Amino acid sequence: MTTSADTWGIHQAQFWLRGIRPRQAVEYDPKTGMWNVYGHPEIQRVLSDPATFSSDTTRLFPEAAQLSEGTLTRLDPPEHQKLRKLVSHAFSRKVVADLEPRIAALTGELLDAIADRGRAELVADLAYPLPVIVIAELLGVPSDDRHLFKQWVDALFERTQQFSLVNRSAEQDRDIERAMEQVGHLTDYLAEHAAERKKRPREDLLTKLVEAEVDGERLTDAQIVNFANLLLIAGHITTTMLLGNTVLCLDAHPEQFAAVRADQSLVPSAIEESLRYFSPFAALGRVTNQEVELGGERIPADQLLFMWIAAANRDPREFREPDVFDVTRDPNPHLAFGRGIHFCLGAPLARLEGRVALNLLLDRFPKLRTDPDEAPAFIPSPNMTGVRRLPLLVS
Ligand code: HEM
Repeated sequence: MTTSADTWGIHQAQFWLRGIRPRQAVEYDPKTGMWNVYGHPEIQRVLSDPATFSSDTTRLFPEAAQLSEGTLTRLDPPEHQKLRKLVSHAFSRKVVADLEPRIAALTGELLDAIADRGRAELVADLAYPLPVIVIAELLGVPSDDRHLFKQWVDALFERTQQFSLVNRSAEQDRDIERAMEQVGHLTDYLAEHAAERKKRPREDLLTKLVEAEVDGERLTDAQIVNFANLLLIAGHITTTMLLGNTVLCLDAHPEQFAAVRADQSLVPSAIEESLRYFSPFAALGRVTNQEVELGGERIPADQLLFMWIAAANRDPREFREPDVFDVTRDPNPHLAFGRGIHFCLGAPLARLEGRVALNLLLDRFPKLRTDPDEAPAFIPSPNMTGVRRLPLLVS
């Protein structure tokens, strides 16, 4: 049977989007040498036990170690909490809520540019520029450089092969090399800006990182740059996917779209349902610190676990009719922002950007639908579920 996941070219590895359930909640994959975890309760358990399941996956890939210094997502307690505290204030609910007028103004400007055209490519016209401009302004780097970020960051997610620990093909090594090279460009760019802030501080997050102290010591240059790197990348790619996915999901479910149009107070729960239905970060990595039993399997120490949160978000043990897109779903305990100590720092910002953008899009265009002559395209990576091109007809 051909599903919409096939029509839209979503990576074959994402079988849960094709109405197929995992055989087991936890299973070892001899082809990749990694453990796949698909179940909602099993993933919740892993994410809430950082002492057993470490986030420092780079210890299995020494070549990527330079990227982990200061990268919040790769740190375990107690270092993780110390670094997270440095920026958590900048992303608190209150600080983020104050950004609403700026997000609304930016969205308005971006929509003005497409108003008379009758057609739009949602990603290029709104879903990419909005979050990247917001995070660039927060960090304090010129948002006009976004075409550079796009070039460097897109290359990170071009990989179509699943990563393998056992079959390290030449192609995989080339992919890693290419990704490292692109991160290198971004790192050099941010290092230049950080050096500038050391000389001339400003009111921005980058200056905050440059001046921050942990246990009485300043962050190293590598920590500053990797931290800024994470904020810049995590601060936009996923929100871009969220905006595109939400519009596509609504278009594909006309009765749900009509319900949201009739009552825009449903916009926040439509966004949560989009995060569950098409989870932008499909997978998270962890490494076992010791032997452990999970989902009836005995997993030795030093094993790499791929937590498929996108599959867990379709686990029938947790969600009634998981393959149905329902904008009124409540409760909706999806794992799209993770759980536990690494729970997404930017979740309030992503939710706000989603709410403002979708509301304004609906207000501005009483008619909005996908272009029947131009299909949407998804990011080709097996670990991401996100629209990267979404042609629309608007009026
Ligand atoms: C962490 C998803 C938007 C910054 C995470 C994690 C997930 C996630 C799943 C957990 C990673 C783990 O446990 O290994 C998303 C999604 C977003 C989004 C789906 C949008 C729809 C943002 C935004 C920012 C951001 C706008 C802005 C700065 C971060 C940071 C972390 C993180 C810094 C690391 C937190 C930590 O390790 O303590 N995100 N994110 N994210 N996210 Fe987001």
